[in-house]
Amino acid sequence: MIKVAIIGGTGLDQLSALENLRTEQVDTPYGKTSNALNIGSLNGNEVIFLPRHGEHHDIAPHNINYRANLWALKEQGATHIIAVNAVGGITEKMSPEKIIFPDQIIDYTHSREHTFSDENADTVLHIDFTQPYSSLIRGVLRSTAVDMAIDFEGEAVYGAAQGPRLETAAEINRMQQDGCDIVGMTGMPEASLARELGIEYACCALVVNWAAGKGENKYITMDIIEQHMQNGMVHASKLISNALPELLNL
Ligand code: HPA
Repeated sequence: MIKVAIIGGTGLDQLSALENLRTEQVDTPYGKTSNALNIGSLNGNEVIFLPRHGEHHDIAPHNINYRANLWALKEQGATHIIAVNAVGGITEKMSPEKIIFPDQIIDYTHSREHTFSDENADTVLHIDFTQPYSSLIRGVLRSTAVDMAIDFEGEAVYGAAQGPRLETAAEINRMQQDGCDIVGMTGMPEASLARELGIEYACCALVVNWAAGKGENKYITMDIIEQHMQNGMVHASKLISNALPELLNL
């Protein structure tokens, strides 16, 4: 049976389509999750929502307990995850307020607990990560976006940066040369941990600014980010709510 979880990012702290919300605190061998899990129903199906930065949005990207979050979702029976991430746009098509369904990742993060194959594990898992995102979920997201006439890109390389600072212009140029189209701080190790647990996982990214040195603005300000976030998250949230019934029918 399919059970869908949504991991909300900056700008998406709840999913209003869910009814009969209850919260569940799940203990994990890896410590505390970012927040209690919000569990609600959509058309009679149970859906889990977890805001990765916490309810008060006070957990920085490098301090998120990704392992606890993924473990708790698995324990609650999640089989499919849609992760929502705010990102900066690097290449030309990745303009602010566009929604992106990346198909690839380059990981630049470091010093994060990034695997369940730690010293307590019995075996070391060498997961296949050739295609890091679920093509099944990406297909549903793309077809929903087409139906809704939403401005989106169906392929992109997500560069996962360490943060919490934004990048230098030279770092963004290097990322572009590497092949990155968008840059965010929370895409990894979330995606690979989901794969380690055998959960189908895809990313719905919202571009909230041009990355450093791109676009017309000399600097990236929180005002710019917040403005694009407010406009764009309305679409992202509706898109996910509309995609859910199709996912639950797979
Ligand atoms: N860089 C990294 N992460 C981000 C950005 C960015 O420009 N915008 C939103 N998240």
